[in-house]
This record gives sequence, structure tokens and C-alpha cells, in this order.
Amino acid sequence: MSALFEQFRLHDLTLPNRIVMGPMTRAKATPEGVPTPMMATHYAQRASAGLIISEGTWPERRGQGYFDIPGIETQEQQDAWAQVTEAVHTAGGRIFLQMEHTGRVGHEVNNGGTTLCAPSDVPADFQIFTRDQGAVQMTTALHVLSTDEVWDVIDAYGKAAQRAKAAGFDGIELHGASGYLPHQFLSDTSNLRDDEFGGSPARRTTFMIEVLKRMIDAWGDSRRIGVKISPGILYNGNVEHEVEETYSVLIDQLNELDLAYVAFQTPESLRSFSGAETDDIPDGEIWHRFPYEFIRERYHGTVIASGDLTKEYAQKALEAGKADLFVFGRAYMSNPDLVERMQNDWPLTPVDMRRGYGGGEEGYNDYPTWQQQSAEPQGAPVG
Ligand SMILES: Cc1cc2nc3c(=O)[nH]c(=O)nc-3n(C[C@H](O)[C@H](O)[C@H](O)COP(=O)(O)O)c2cc1C
Repeated sequence: MSALFEQFRLHDLTLPNRIVMGPMTRAKATPEGVPTPMMATHYAQRASAGLIISEGTWPERRGQGYFDIPGIETQEQQDAWAQVTEAVHTAGGRIFLQMEHTGRVGHEVNNGGTTLCAPSDVPADFQIFTRDQGAVQMTTALHVLSTDEVWDVIDAYGKAAQRAKAAGFDGIELHGASGYLPHQFLSDTSNLRDDEFGGSPARRTTFMIEVLKRMIDAWGDSRRIGVKISPGILYNGNVEHEVEETYSVLIDQLNELDLAYVAFQTPESLRSFSGAETDDIPDGEIWHRFPYEFIRERYHGTVIASGDLTKEYAQKALEAGKADLFVFGRAYMSNPDLVERMQNDWPLTPVDMRRGYGGGEEGYNDYPTWQQQSAEPQGAPVG
């Protein structure tokens, strides 16, 4: 049996396998960011994953970049998340909450009219999707955070982390990737500050490190806190220079924090988001792609890889020691029993990305397991 399907000890958690359901925004919460019962069903259906990472969830309303994405700022949101974690645990699974503050990426029509905040007055220049107006130009009126206000945002992450723990999550992943707020602080093009949060690669890492420290304090155990990074990714308007220097300094500090893990997303991934086929990765070459080598060489703890993975690539990367756990994103949208399918070499159901965001249970909770699918009469529609 492939080691992919063997147990892995993540601190004091025993994962039954090394397959991770990646964080995926699906816009299924209420407009006020309260998780809905269909989300509990969705995650519980996928409980055989070694670990589930929830969709990006905002610690404060300004950080809600997209419509109908959940928060963890209020008691009502916490109580609704408790239903989700209970459903996952009852089904035998484990779930971390992904904490996502989108910073300059977003629009007031998505977040109840709240002005977006950012490290500097550098708007992101692209279009963002809204529920009622379709794709619209990204907001250019940004509130630049004062030094005191940056500390207030860090506090907001800490309070949200307390709520995540109270809601029954098994841990938290800080979203430090994909061009959102912590990444905006890391990048030299979106962070032009000259206080303690900007000005040099080391100072640009301060925000992310302080947020992590605050979340660790809130939880009381550093090994239940992970972080996702995406060095150099061209996504959400992120452009960064000095990538190696900045991320070397960052990873040195992450080592000292003694976290649950560092997750990364490859810079080339997400190109095929529009629903096009994933580009082929030449056989055996996956770990030559930055950042497999870069992070493994520097980071001393558990590494989670993501981006265009297949079972075969994950196996090779594991055998070569390039990562410990492996995220599947899109494949998890359409295969609730992805672990069993990969383990048994059963075929995967392709995902319909037209149903990626918003809407109800259709295209969300109605993807069958292989057992259900193969019990259906011949010719019945799949997915
Ligand atoms: C619909 C969708 C929503 C996503 N939302 C998030 C998110 O909220 N947070 C995050 O870190 N990554 C998000 N991602 C990225 C995935 O977690 C994953 O890293 C990426 O899809 C690459 O994996 P894949 O090639 O297996 O799909 C999203 C991906 C998809 C397809």
C-alpha cells in the first residue's frame, strides 16, 4: 500500500492518511457570513480525508473579499461553525479553520459596505466577482492602516482564533498566501510602509509573525496553528521581488514558532481555474518546481504541498521526501470519497467549475461516492 494512505502524526492528532482537503471558498454562507447547514453536510461527506482545511474565513468584516463567505467574528458565526465541526467529528474527520483576511482584495458590495483596508495605498488592479453585479473593477478607495490599526487587526485575528477553538475546530491555518492581507504585507509592491511593518524583507514579515503569535496565544498550543504561503504566486494582483530573501527570513521565524505545519501552493497553480484542463507536469519533475526544494530545505517541520497534484505526483514527492501531506482542491469538490477512490484506483468524477461559487446544494453536495455512482442504473447522470 502506498504510504500516502498510511497514518501520519500531526502533533497530537492522528491523521488516517496523508491526503488533505484543501481550503476552498464556495460562497455558501449567508450574506452576513453565517455558515449554513449545507456546509456541515459538505465537510462531513469528506471526513475520510486525513485532514480538512475549511474555506477561507474572515476574522473581521473588512476582510470579507467575496460575497457569502463565512466569518468567525460573532457568536452566531461561532455557533454555526460548531455545527460544522460536530458533523465532521461525528463522521470521524478532523478539520482546521482557514483564517483569511483579504485586505485590499474585495469590494464593498461583497462585505456589507465596509471600506477595505491595506498596508499601503496601492489598489489591486483587476476585476472581482460579486453576487448581483457580476465581475466589477476592484475597489480603489482603500483605508491605509495606521500602525495602531495594524495592531488592532492583529488583535482581531486573536479574538477570532479564540472563537475557532470554542467552535470545536482541531486547529487553524493562517492564510498567508494568494495575495491577501498577510501576503500584501510581505510583498514589496503592496507594502510601501516605513514603520515596523515595512521597509525591509524582515520588517515585511512582522505582520504575519505577529498574527501567528497572537493565534498561538489564543489557542494555547503552537502545534495546532499552521500557515499557508505561496511565494511568488501571480494571483490576486500579487507581484513580489526579493522572494528568496523575504521567504528565507520568514521561514527562519516560522521554525522558531514550532507550528503544526507550513503549507504552500505552487506559483504556477490556479492557471486553470476557469475550468480549463490542468496543465500537464512532466513526469518526475514536480519537486524541481519552486517552492518544493526551497521550503523543504529551510523549514524543519511538517510541510503540506498543493497545486495541480495527482496521486502519482503526490506519491513521488512523498517518496523523495519533498513534502509530508498533500492537498487536493478541485478533485475534492467533485469526489467526496477521494481517499477511497485514489486508494482503490476508482475513476474520479470531473468537477463542474461553473458551479464553483454561490448557489445551493446542486453542484456542491450532490456529487456521489463511487459506491453510490456504481449502484446507479446505467446511463444515469453522474455529478
Ligand atoms: C473553488 C476554489 C476555491 C478556493 N478557495 C481557497 C481558499 O479559500 N483558500 C485557499 O488557501 N485556497 C483556496 N483555493 C486553492 C486550493 O486550496 C488549492 O490550493 C488549489 O486549488 C490547488 O489545488 P488543486 O490543483 O488540487 O485544485 C481554492 C481553490 C478552488 C478550486
